[in-house]
Amino acid sequence: MNVLIIGSGGREHAFAWKLAQSPKIGNLFVAPGNAGTASIATNLAVDMLDFQAVKKAVLQHQINLVLVGPEIPLVAGIHDYFLSDKELKHIAVIGPQQYAAQLEGSKEFAKEFMMRHQIPTAAYQSFTVEQLQEGFSFLETLSPPYVLKADGLAAGKGVVILEDLHDAKEELKSMLQDQKFGAASRKVVIEEFLAGIEMSSFVLTDGKNYVTLPNAKDYKRIGENDKGLNTGGMGAVSPVSFANDDFLLKVEERVIKRTINGLKQDNIPFVGFVFFGLINVDGNPMVIEYNVRMGDPETEVVIPRIKSDFLELLIAASEQKLDQVSIEIDNRAAATVMLVSGGYPESYQNGKEITGLEKVTNSIVFHAGTKNLDDKILTHGGRVLAITSYGADFNDALRTSYKNISKIDFEGMYYRTDIGFDL
Ligand code: AMP
Ligand code: GLY
Repeated sequence: MNVLIIGSGGREHAFAWKLAQSPKIGNLFVAPGNAGTASIATNLAVDMLDFQAVKKAVLQHQINLVLVGPEIPLVAGIHDYFLSDKELKHIAVIGPQQYAAQLEGSKEFAKEFMMRHQIPTAAYQSFTVEQLQEGFSFLETLSPPYVLKADGLAAGKGVVILEDLHDAKEELKSMLQDQKFGAASRKVVIEEFLAGIEMSSFVLTDGKNYVTLPNAKDYKRIGENDKGLNTGGMGAVSPVSFANDDFLLKVEERVIKRTINGLKQDNIPFVGFVFFGLINVDGNPMVIEYNVRMGDPETEVVIPRIKSDFLELLIAASEQKLDQVSIEIDNRAAATVMLVSGGYPESYQNGKEITGLEKVTNSIVFHAGTKNLDDKILTHGGRVLAITSYGADFNDALRTSYKNISKIDFEGMYYRTDIGFDL
């Protein structure tokens, strides 16, 4: 079976690493990929939003299954494009169609879905620019902190949490009136603040059945102790130590099953991953967000803990046969630490030579933002490398990752030394 992975980050390298181990794999391609995926698969210089170029590559390389990594092509309708094309419609696509992708692409859509299906989430209201005054009045009824969310995709930056009512009103105005986040903030969801520790659960679903993947916790802030700007993610651990059997049972009963049944009831087809961003409020899971894809860097700890043949799981999902497979999980913990370019998540420079990768032992190096130039590997992105290790627990895994990180270098390299600090 020939597989094309769409994307270029650490998530896609982790997918490629796992799929390359499948006895069922034929030729493996990644578009556009990075230096890491180039070492185990064939990179294709295709823009993931240029669906015609994707089609050409799929036909040329006789691809049987397309695994879509990031949300952007899903929200843009890549799966719908395949279904509406007579040369592509028989090809399996892992990743939901555009309508279902709104679970991630529109906070309001996700909120309405959760309300309809009694899935625990923060109370909310949504507002457009015409409703600015109502928005102000709603803020006045809440107690701080105030949580404002741009409705649409805003590259992880669309959520603003403020302590002060005046600041919250100003922010609402800037989102709605000045379109601070462009079209993404034409609507704004204001919601109740939830206090608790966060974690993420993941399932692979065919729209009727699902398999539960290992859970994980990521660390989004640039600075130690979760201080500073939001990033794509600076590290992750799996499993999450506070998520005991009792909590996970609640996640399954109240969140996962209600979501999958909700999709069925609403007649929303869904083949792909559901990423549940959860917060533990006094022992009860509440949904902060849905994503319709795997997380990054969560994938870099989730995938290494899956013992089963991942390609077999993807095929079963595409054939609506997930009830006929089971998933085997590695008992060991996994942890990953992201090495980033100096300056990230603000401006940074690309093209720095990475050295020391050949000295790494007992860790898996997943490339995030890298590229090959002659025989060198250069930085090519804010997040550069994810260093994943196994261990008896996440601390043990982290020790191995940090030991290996000391052997790796590039100019301006930065990483957090406190992944897992709050567990
Ligand atoms: P989101 O993009 O929806 O995942 O939100 C980004 C981050 O904002 C989350 O990871 C949480 O840390 C925080 N957040 C979002 N919604 C809430 C909420 N209702 N209460 C507290 N924190 C929140
Ligand atoms: N690490 C968070 C995300 O992938 O959205």
